[in-house]
Amino acid sequence: MMEHEMNRMSLQFLSRSENEAFARITVAAFVSQMDPTLEELTDLKTVISEAVTNCIIHGYENKPDGMVSISAEIEGEEVTITVSDEGRGIEDIELARQPLYTSKPDMERSGMGFTIMENFMDQFEVVSAPGAGTSIRMKKRIESKKALYN
Ligand SMILES: Nc1ncnc2c1ncn2[C@@H]1O[C@H](COP(=O)(O)OP(=O)(O)OP(=O)(O)O)[C@@H](O)[C@H]1O
Ligand SMILES: [Mg+2]
Repeated sequence: MMEHEMNRMSLQFLSRSENEAFARITVAAFVSQMDPTLEELTDLKTVISEAVTNCIIHGYENKPDGMVSISAEIEGEEVTITVSDEGRGIEDIELARQPLYTSKPDMERSGMGFTIMENFMDQFEVVSAPGAGTSIRMKKRIESKKALYN
């Protein structure tokens, strides 16, 4: 058994599309201390990218003056990440989580964001209410490469 180490960070930024790469890279840098595989890191970056993009285009409907918040907590071999906005919220969460469902079919959306997040993470939950914003909470176990040698 590895010793139980805890670490935590939080991040807040404006709902501008330029900040999507900032968020993705920053979370990946934080999680790097867990010594993830390249695949685990790539999956995490994709998940952060999908979640932040949702906050910007759906939560704030592309208005650049909203705040997006991310927090990440490492506990042992597990990372818990939350991505939140204080935007319009989701009326029907079950419907929104269906593969291929999108409320913006006229745009270039495929409705796969939530499905990707759910598949790449071990745990995934959506907390949302109309007018009160949306919070995505997810967990992933990182199989540390170092553990092979310890
Ligand atoms: N942060 C959010 N705030 C408000 N609504 C959201 C938010 N995130 C998702 N939704 C709603 O859930 C639906 C499904 O989200 P999902 O990410 O799966 O698909 P999408 O964003 O429409 O398409 P894609 O992610 O494939 O580009 C969205 O179309 C939107 O209606
Ligand atoms: Mg999406």
